[in-house]
Amino acid sequence: MPRRLSPLLCASAKQQVINYGTKSEQQAQTEYAFEMACSNIRFGEGVTREVGMDCKSLGHKVCVMTDRNLAKLPPVQTVLESLEVHKVPYKLYDRSRVEPTNESFQDAIDFAKSEDFDVFLAVGGGSVMDTCKAANLYSSNPSAGFLDYVNAPIGKGLPVTHTVKPLIAVTTTAGTGSETTGVAVFDYLPMKAKTGIASRVLRPTLGIVDPDHLRTLPERVAAYSGIDVLCHAIESMTCVPYKERLPRPENPNLRPAYQGCNPISDIWAKHALTIASKYIKRAVFDPEDSEARSQMHLASCYAGIGFGNAGCHLCHGMSYPISGLVRNFKSSDYSQDHPLIPHGLSVVISAPAVFSFTASACPRETPGGSTALRC
Ligand SMILES: NC(=O)c1ccc[n+]([C@@H]2O[C@H](COP(=O)([O-])OP(=O)(O)OC[C@H]3O[C@@H](n4cnc5c(N)ncnc54)[C@H](O)[C@@H]3O)[C@@H](O)[C@H]2O)c1
Repeated sequence: MPRRLSPLLCASAKQQVINYGTKSEQQAQTEYAFEMACSNIRFGEGVTREVGMDCKSLGHKVCVMTDRNLAKLPPVQTVLESLEVHKVPYKLYDRSRVEPTNESFQDAIDFAKSEDFDVFLAVGGGSVMDTCKAANLYSSNPSAGFLDYVNAPIGKGLPVTHTVKPLIAVTTTAGTGSETTGVAVFDYLPMKAKTGIASRVLRPTLGIVDPDHLRTLPERVAAYSGIDVLCHAIESMTCVPYKERLPRPENPNLRPAYQGCNPISDIWAKHALTIASKYIKRAVFDPEDSEARSQMHLASCYAGIGFGNAGCHLCHGMSYPISGLVRNFKSSDYSQDHPLIPHGLSVVISAPAVFSFTASACPRETPGGSTALRC
Protein backbone atom coordinates (compact mmCIF):
# COMPACT_ATOMS: atom_id res chain seq x y z
CA MET A 1 0.00 0.00 0.00
CA PRO A 2 1.20 3.56 -0.60
CA ARG A 3 2.61 5.33 2.39
CA ARG A 4 0.06 7.88 3.60
CA LEU A 5 0.64 11.13 5.38
CA SER A 6 -2.40 10.43 7.48
CA PRO A 7 -3.69 6.99 8.39
CA LEU A 8 -7.15 8.53 8.35
CA LEU A 9 -9.21 9.82 5.48
CA CYS A 10 -6.85 11.88 3.47
CA ALA A 11 -5.22 11.46 0.11
CA SER A 12 -1.49 11.84 0.54
CA ALA A 13 0.28 14.99 -0.62
CA LYS A 14 2.50 15.19 -3.65
CA GLN A 15 5.68 15.16 -1.65
CA GLN A 16 5.35 11.60 -0.38
CA VAL A 17 8.19 9.16 -1.09
CA ILE A 18 7.09 5.76 -2.25
CA ASN A 19 9.39 2.87 -2.89
CA TYR A 20 7.80 0.89 -5.70
CA GLY A 21 10.91 -0.05 -7.63
CA THR A 22 12.09 1.49 -10.89
CA LYS A 23 10.17 4.19 -12.74
CA SER A 24 8.88 1.75 -15.37
CA GLU A 25 7.84 -0.74 -12.67
CA GLN A 26 5.94 2.06 -10.98
CA GLN A 27 4.26 3.13 -14.21
CA ALA A 28 2.94 -0.39 -14.70
CA GLN A 29 1.36 -0.31 -11.25
CA THR A 30 0.05 3.23 -10.97
CA GLU A 31 -3.60 4.14 -11.32
CA TYR A 32 -4.86 4.92 -14.81
CA ALA A 33 -8.52 5.73 -14.15
CA PHE A 34 -10.74 7.79 -11.93
CA GLU A 35 -14.42 7.61 -11.29
CA MET A 36 -16.84 10.36 -10.27
CA ALA A 37 -19.63 9.61 -7.86
CA CYS A 38 -22.09 11.99 -6.30
CA SER A 39 -25.40 11.99 -4.49
CA ASN A 40 -28.43 13.40 -6.25
CA ILE A 41 -28.72 16.98 -5.08
CA ARG A 42 -31.82 19.11 -4.85
CA PHE A 43 -31.25 22.81 -4.22
CA GLY A 44 -33.77 25.56 -3.53
CA GLU A 45 -35.23 27.78 -0.82
CA GLY A 46 -38.09 25.91 0.85
CA VAL A 47 -37.42 22.65 -1.01
CA THR A 48 -37.38 20.71 2.29
CA ARG A 49 -41.17 20.74 2.20
CA GLU A 50 -40.96 18.11 -0.55
CA VAL A 51 -39.18 15.57 1.66
CA GLY A 52 -42.39 13.87 2.83
CA MET A 53 -43.14 12.91 -0.77
CA ASP A 54 -39.61 11.56 -1.25
CA CYS A 55 -39.92 9.40 1.86
CA LYS A 56 -43.33 8.14 0.85
CA SER A 57 -41.98 6.92 -2.47
CA LEU A 58 -38.90 5.31 -0.86
CA GLY A 59 -40.52 3.23 1.87
CA HIS A 60 -42.81 3.01 4.84
CA LYS A 61 -41.08 3.89 8.10
CA VAL A 62 -38.54 6.69 8.40
CA CYS A 63 -35.74 7.13 10.94
CA VAL A 64 -35.24 10.89 11.33
CA MET A 65 -31.91 11.81 12.92
CA THR A 66 -30.83 15.19 14.25
CA ASP A 67 -29.19 16.80 17.30
CA ARG A 68 -30.89 18.25 20.40
CA ASN A 69 -30.35 21.85 19.34
CA LEU A 70 -31.73 21.43 15.83
CA ALA A 71 -34.69 19.42 17.13
CA LYS A 72 -36.12 22.74 18.39
CA LEU A 73 -35.38 24.72 15.23
CA PRO A 74 -37.19 25.29 11.90
CA PRO A 75 -35.18 22.79 9.76
CA VAL A 76 -36.42 19.82 11.79
CA GLN A 77 -39.89 21.27 12.26
CA THR A 78 -40.24 21.70 8.48
CA VAL A 79 -39.15 18.10 7.88
CA LEU A 80 -41.55 16.68 10.46
CA GLU A 81 -44.44 18.79 9.13
CA SER A 82 -43.78 17.46 5.64
CA LEU A 83 -43.75 13.84 6.89
CA GLU A 84 -47.02 14.44 8.75
CA VAL A 85 -48.72 16.14 5.79
CA HIS A 86 -47.83 13.14 3.64
CA LYS A 87 -48.77 10.67 6.40
CA VAL A 88 -45.34 9.07 6.58
CA PRO A 89 -44.66 7.20 9.86
CA TYR A 90 -41.38 8.19 11.50
CA LYS A 91 -39.35 8.01 14.69
CA LEU A 92 -37.16 10.90 15.78
CA TYR A 93 -33.66 10.40 17.18
CA ASP A 94 -32.22 13.67 18.53
CA ARG A 95 -29.14 12.43 20.40
CA SER A 96 -26.58 12.90 17.57
CA ARG A 97 -23.49 14.29 19.23
CA VAL A 98 -21.89 17.49 17.97
CA GLU A 99 -18.54 16.04 16.82
CA PRO A 100 -19.54 12.37 17.07
CA THR A 101 -17.57 9.63 18.79
CA ASN A 102 -17.59 5.85 18.49
CA GLU A 103 -19.89 5.84 21.55
CA SER A 104 -22.37 8.31 20.09
CA PHE A 105 -22.31 6.43 16.76
CA GLN A 106 -23.04 3.23 18.69
CA ASP A 107 -26.00 4.85 20.45
CA ALA A 108 -27.45 5.87 17.06
CA ILE A 109 -26.75 2.42 15.61
CA ASP A 110 -28.59 0.78 18.52
CA PHE A 111 -31.55 3.09 17.93
CA ALA A 112 -31.56 2.23 14.22
CA LYS A 113 -31.44 -1.49 15.01
CA SER A 114 -34.38 -1.21 17.40
CA GLU A 115 -36.90 -0.85 14.55
CA ASP A 116 -37.13 -1.97 10.96
CA PHE A 117 -36.65 1.36 9.19
CA ASP A 118 -37.04 1.67 5.42
CA VAL A 119 -35.49 5.12 5.02
CA PHE A 120 -32.98 7.25 6.94
CA LEU A 121 -33.38 11.01 7.02
CA ALA A 122 -30.61 13.20 8.49
CA VAL A 123 -31.41 16.83 9.34
CA GLY A 124 -28.33 18.73 10.44
CA GLY A 125 -24.69 19.52 9.86
CA GLY A 126 -21.85 17.08 9.33
CA SER A 127 -22.20 15.64 12.84
CA VAL A 128 -25.80 14.56 12.24
CA MET A 129 -25.32 13.42 8.64
CA ASP A 130 -22.30 11.30 9.58
CA THR A 131 -24.14 9.77 12.55
CA CYS A 132 -27.02 8.85 10.29
CA LYS A 133 -24.69 7.28 7.69
CA ALA A 134 -23.15 5.07 10.41
CA ALA A 135 -26.56 4.12 11.81
CA ASN A 136 -27.71 3.11 8.34
CA LEU A 137 -24.52 1.18 7.55
CA TYR A 138 -24.40 -0.94 10.71
CA SER A 139 -28.13 -1.49 11.18
CA SER A 140 -28.27 -2.83 7.61
CA ASN A 141 -25.70 -5.48 8.58
CA PRO A 142 -26.31 -6.24 12.27
CA SER A 143 -23.57 -8.89 12.43
CA ALA A 144 -20.78 -6.40 11.55
CA GLY A 145 -18.37 -5.41 14.30
CA PHE A 146 -17.90 -1.67 14.78
CA LEU A 147 -14.27 -1.61 13.62
CA ASP A 148 -14.96 -3.73 10.52
CA TYR A 149 -15.59 -0.71 8.27
CA VAL A 150 -13.51 1.88 10.09
CA ASN A 151 -10.49 3.08 8.10
CA ALA A 152 -7.26 1.18 8.65
CA PRO A 153 -5.06 1.21 10.65
CA ILE A 154 -7.51 2.01 13.47
CA GLY A 155 -10.15 -0.26 11.98
CA LYS A 156 -10.12 -3.18 9.57
CA GLY A 157 -11.15 -1.05 6.57
CA LEU A 158 -13.24 -3.87 5.09
CA PRO A 159 -15.13 -3.06 1.88
CA VAL A 160 -18.87 -2.75 2.38
CA THR A 161 -20.58 -5.49 0.40
CA HIS A 162 -24.12 -5.31 1.78
CA THR A 163 -26.94 -3.03 0.66
CA VAL A 164 -27.87 -0.11 2.85
CA LYS A 165 -31.21 1.70 3.08
CA PRO A 166 -31.89 4.95 1.20
CA LEU A 167 -30.61 7.98 3.10
CA ILE A 168 -31.78 11.55 2.55
CA ALA A 169 -29.51 14.26 3.98
CA VAL A 170 -30.97 17.70 4.67
CA THR A 171 -27.92 19.83 5.31
CA THR A 172 -28.17 22.74 7.74
CA THR A 173 -24.58 24.05 7.61
CA ALA A 174 -22.38 25.33 4.78
CA GLY A 175 -20.45 23.17 5.42
CA THR A 176 -18.99 19.83 5.32
CA GLY A 177 -20.50 18.72 2.02
CA SER A 178 -21.36 15.47 3.82
CA GLU A 179 -24.63 15.36 1.85
CA THR A 180 -22.49 14.49 -1.19
CA THR A 181 -19.80 12.23 0.32
CA GLY A 182 -19.38 8.58 1.23
CA VAL A 183 -17.64 9.41 4.49
CA ALA A 184 -18.61 9.41 8.17
CA VAL A 185 -16.12 10.98 10.60
CA PHE A 186 -15.90 10.39 14.36
CA ASP A 187 -13.58 10.46 17.36
CA TYR A 188 -12.35 7.03 18.35
CA LEU A 189 -12.18 7.55 22.08
CA PRO A 190 -9.92 4.62 23.05
CA MET A 191 -7.12 6.19 20.97
CA LYS A 192 -8.12 9.87 21.32
CA ALA A 193 -7.97 9.99 17.53
CA LYS A 194 -10.36 11.10 14.88
CA THR A 195 -10.97 8.71 12.04
CA GLY A 196 -13.78 7.67 9.76
CA ILE A 197 -15.55 5.22 7.56
CA ALA A 198 -15.24 5.73 3.81
CA SER A 199 -17.31 3.86 1.27
CA ARG A 200 -19.35 4.85 -1.75
CA VAL A 201 -22.37 3.05 -0.28
CA LEU A 202 -22.52 5.66 2.50
CA ARG A 203 -23.26 8.41 0.01
CA PRO A 204 -26.74 9.79 0.57
CA THR A 205 -29.36 8.86 -1.99
CA LEU A 206 -30.47 12.48 -2.04
CA GLY A 207 -28.91 15.62 -0.58
CA ILE A 208 -31.32 18.46 0.10
CA VAL A 209 -29.64 21.86 0.08
CA ASP A 210 -32.22 24.39 1.28
CA PRO A 211 -30.69 27.79 2.06
CA ASP A 212 -33.71 28.60 4.28
CA HIS A 213 -32.02 26.49 6.94
CA LEU A 214 -29.04 28.82 7.18
CA ARG A 215 -31.15 31.63 8.63
CA THR A 216 -30.62 30.24 12.13
CA LEU A 217 -26.93 29.38 11.67
CA PRO A 218 -24.92 31.12 14.43
CA GLU A 219 -21.91 33.23 13.46
CA ARG A 220 -19.16 30.92 14.73
CA VAL A 221 -20.73 27.88 13.08
CA ALA A 222 -21.02 29.84 9.80
CA ALA A 223 -17.34 30.83 10.13
CA TYR A 224 -15.86 27.45 10.99
CA SER A 225 -17.99 25.49 8.57
CA GLY A 226 -17.26 28.09 5.86
CA ILE A 227 -13.54 27.67 6.41
CA ASP A 228 -14.03 23.94 6.03
CA VAL A 229 -15.41 24.65 2.53
CA LEU A 230 -12.30 26.65 1.60
CA CYS A 231 -9.95 23.97 2.86
CA HIS A 232 -11.88 21.16 1.15
CA ALA A 233 -11.56 23.02 -2.14
CA ILE A 234 -7.86 23.87 -1.88
CA GLU A 235 -6.80 20.51 -0.48
CA SER A 236 -8.64 18.56 -3.15
CA MET A 237 -6.95 20.69 -5.84
CA THR A 238 -3.50 20.12 -4.38
CA CYS A 239 -3.61 16.47 -3.35
CA VAL A 240 -1.86 13.68 -5.26
CA PRO A 241 -3.06 13.39 -8.87
CA TYR A 242 -4.98 10.14 -9.35
CA LYS A 243 -2.41 8.89 -11.87
CA GLU A 244 0.33 8.93 -9.24
CA ARG A 245 -1.55 6.71 -6.79
CA LEU A 246 -0.06 3.30 -6.16
CA PRO A 247 -1.04 0.52 -6.45
CA ARG A 248 -3.69 0.35 -9.18
CA PRO A 249 -6.68 -1.56 -7.69
CA GLU A 250 -7.14 -5.13 -8.84
CA ASN A 251 -10.90 -4.68 -8.92
CA PRO A 252 -12.81 -1.45 -9.63
CA ASN A 253 -14.77 -1.98 -6.40
CA LEU A 254 -11.52 -1.46 -4.54
CA ARG A 255 -10.85 1.93 -6.10
CA PRO A 256 -10.99 4.28 -3.11
CA ALA A 257 -13.53 7.11 -2.79
CA TYR A 258 -10.56 9.46 -2.33
CA GLN A 259 -8.69 8.87 -5.59
CA GLY A 260 -6.48 11.94 -5.86
CA CYS A 261 -7.11 15.12 -7.80
CA ASN A 262 -8.53 14.67 -11.27
CA PRO A 263 -9.90 16.92 -14.00
CA ILE A 264 -13.52 16.68 -12.84
CA SER A 265 -12.95 17.16 -9.11
CA ASP A 266 -10.78 20.17 -10.02
CA ILE A 267 -13.73 21.84 -11.72
CA TRP A 268 -15.93 21.51 -8.63
CA ALA A 269 -13.17 22.57 -6.27
CA LYS A 270 -12.17 25.64 -8.28
CA HIS A 271 -15.76 26.75 -8.63
CA ALA A 272 -16.35 26.29 -4.89
CA LEU A 273 -13.25 28.34 -4.17
CA THR A 274 -14.37 31.18 -6.42
CA ILE A 275 -17.78 31.36 -4.73
CA ALA A 276 -16.50 30.95 -1.18
CA SER A 277 -13.81 33.59 -1.53
CA LYS A 278 -16.47 36.05 -2.72
CA TYR A 279 -19.19 35.33 -0.17
CA ILE A 280 -17.68 33.86 3.00
CA LYS A 281 -17.27 37.11 4.95
CA ARG A 282 -20.75 38.35 4.12
CA ALA A 283 -22.26 34.97 4.98
CA VAL A 284 -20.52 34.86 8.37
CA PHE A 285 -21.13 38.38 9.59
CA ASP A 286 -24.58 39.10 8.18
CA PRO A 287 -27.11 36.34 8.86
CA GLU A 288 -29.71 38.37 6.94
CA ASP A 289 -27.61 38.23 3.75
CA SER A 290 -29.55 35.43 2.13
CA GLU A 291 -27.64 35.72 -1.16
CA ALA A 292 -24.28 35.15 0.55
CA ARG A 293 -25.55 32.32 2.75
CA SER A 294 -27.27 30.65 -0.18
CA GLN A 295 -24.08 30.89 -2.28
CA MET A 296 -22.04 29.38 0.56
CA HIS A 297 -24.52 26.50 0.76
CA LEU A 298 -23.91 25.81 -2.94
CA ALA A 299 -20.15 26.21 -2.54
CA SER A 300 -20.14 23.68 0.28
CA CYS A 301 -21.93 21.18 -1.93
CA TYR A 302 -19.53 21.83 -4.86
CA ALA A 303 -16.49 21.44 -2.61
CA GLY A 304 -18.01 18.24 -1.21
CA ILE A 305 -18.24 16.77 -4.71
CA GLY A 306 -14.63 17.81 -5.34
CA PHE A 307 -13.02 16.45 -2.19
CA GLY A 308 -15.45 13.52 -1.98
CA ASN A 309 -13.82 12.18 -5.16
CA ALA A 310 -10.28 13.56 -4.84
CA GLY A 311 -9.61 13.57 -1.09
CA CYS A 312 -8.07 16.08 1.27
CA HIS A 313 -4.59 16.09 2.71
CA LEU A 314 -2.53 17.80 5.38
CA CYS A 315 -4.98 20.30 6.93
CA HIS A 316 -7.62 17.64 7.42
CA GLY A 317 -5.11 14.94 8.35
CA MET A 318 -3.56 17.13 11.03
CA SER A 319 -6.96 18.34 12.26
CA TYR A 320 -7.73 14.86 13.57
CA PRO A 321 -5.05 14.69 16.26
CA ILE A 322 -5.78 18.34 17.11
CA SER A 323 -9.45 17.74 17.74
CA GLY A 324 -8.89 14.27 19.20
CA LEU A 325 -6.74 15.69 22.00
CA VAL A 326 -9.26 18.32 23.17
CA ARG A 327 -9.48 18.72 26.94
CA ASN A 328 -11.41 21.81 28.03
CA PHE A 329 -11.95 23.97 24.96
CA LYS A 330 -15.50 25.03 24.16
CA SER A 331 -16.56 27.33 21.38
CA SER A 332 -19.41 29.78 21.63
CA ASP A 333 -22.36 29.08 19.34
CA TYR A 334 -21.82 25.32 19.47
CA SER A 335 -24.59 23.60 21.42
CA GLN A 336 -22.69 21.11 23.51
CA ASP A 337 -22.22 19.83 26.98
CA HIS A 338 -18.73 18.56 26.25
CA PRO A 339 -15.44 20.21 25.25
CA LEU A 340 -14.79 20.25 21.52
CA ILE A 341 -12.71 21.96 18.88
CA PRO A 342 -15.05 22.78 16.00
CA HIS A 343 -13.99 20.85 12.93
CA GLY A 344 -13.32 23.92 10.74
CA LEU A 345 -11.17 25.48 13.47
CA SER A 346 -9.06 22.35 13.85
CA VAL A 347 -8.59 22.30 10.07
CA VAL A 348 -7.63 25.93 9.56
CA ILE A 349 -4.99 26.03 12.31
CA SER A 350 -2.45 24.39 10.00
CA ALA A 351 -3.76 25.87 6.74
CA PRO A 352 -1.36 28.84 6.38
CA ALA A 353 1.67 26.57 6.82
CA VAL A 354 0.25 23.83 4.62
CA PHE A 355 -0.62 26.07 1.71
CA SER A 356 2.73 27.84 1.89
CA PHE A 357 4.22 24.38 1.51
CA THR A 358 1.96 23.24 -1.36
CA ALA A 359 2.29 26.60 -3.10
CA SER A 360 6.03 26.29 -3.39
CA ALA A 361 5.80 22.61 -4.34
CA CYS A 362 3.06 23.00 -6.96
CA PRO A 363 2.71 26.70 -7.76
CA ARG A 364 0.46 26.21 -10.76
CA GLU A 365 -2.11 24.25 -8.80
CA THR A 366 -2.24 26.32 -5.65
CA PRO A 367 -4.51 29.35 -5.65
CA GLY A 368 -2.31 32.41 -5.38
CA GLY A 369 0.19 31.03 -7.90
CA SER A 370 3.77 30.77 -6.82
CA THR A 371 3.16 32.68 -3.62
CA ALA A 372 1.59 31.18 -0.55
CA LEU A 373 -2.15 31.44 -0.24
CA ARG A 374 -3.23 34.07 2.23
CA CYS A 375 -5.62 32.34 4.60
N1 LIG B 1 -18.66 13.32 6.08
C1 LIG B 1 -17.97 14.28 5.53
O1 LIG B 1 -17.77 14.30 4.32
C2 LIG B 1 -17.42 15.36 6.41
C3 LIG B 1 -16.66 16.39 5.85
C4 LIG B 1 -16.18 17.38 6.68
C5 LIG B 1 -16.46 17.34 8.05
N2 LIG B 1 -17.19 16.31 8.57
C6 LIG B 1 -17.52 16.25 10.00
O2 LIG B 1 -18.68 17.05 10.23
C7 LIG B 1 -18.64 17.53 11.59
C8 LIG B 1 -18.82 19.04 11.60
O3 LIG B 1 -20.07 19.36 11.01
P1 LIG B 1 -20.57 20.88 10.83
O4 LIG B 1 -19.43 21.79 10.70
O5 LIG B 1 -21.56 20.83 9.73
O6 LIG B 1 -21.26 21.22 12.21
P2 LIG B 1 -22.06 20.33 13.27
O7 LIG B 1 -22.98 19.39 12.60
O8 LIG B 1 -21.08 19.76 14.22
O9 LIG B 1 -22.95 21.45 14.01
C9 LIG B 1 -22.31 22.48 14.75
C10 LIG B 1 -23.32 23.21 15.61
O10 LIG B 1 -24.19 23.99 14.80
C11 LIG B 1 -25.56 23.71 15.12
N3 LIG B 1 -26.30 23.91 13.87
C12 LIG B 1 -26.18 23.23 12.72
N4 LIG B 1 -26.98 23.76 11.79
C13 LIG B 1 -27.65 24.78 12.37
C14 LIG B 1 -28.62 25.70 11.90
N5 LIG B 1 -29.05 25.72 10.64
N6 LIG B 1 -29.11 26.60 12.80
C15 LIG B 1 -28.65 26.63 14.08
N7 LIG B 1 -27.72 25.80 14.57
C16 LIG B 1 -27.21 24.87 13.71
C17 LIG B 1 -25.56 22.30 15.65
O11 LIG B 1 -26.69 22.04 16.47
C18 LIG B 1 -24.24 22.31 16.43
O12 LIG B 1 -24.42 22.89 17.70
C19 LIG B 1 -17.29 17.12 12.14
O13 LIG B 1 -17.44 15.95 12.92
C20 LIG B 1 -16.47 16.82 10.91
O14 LIG B 1 -15.43 15.92 11.14
C21 LIG B 1 -17.69 15.34 7.76
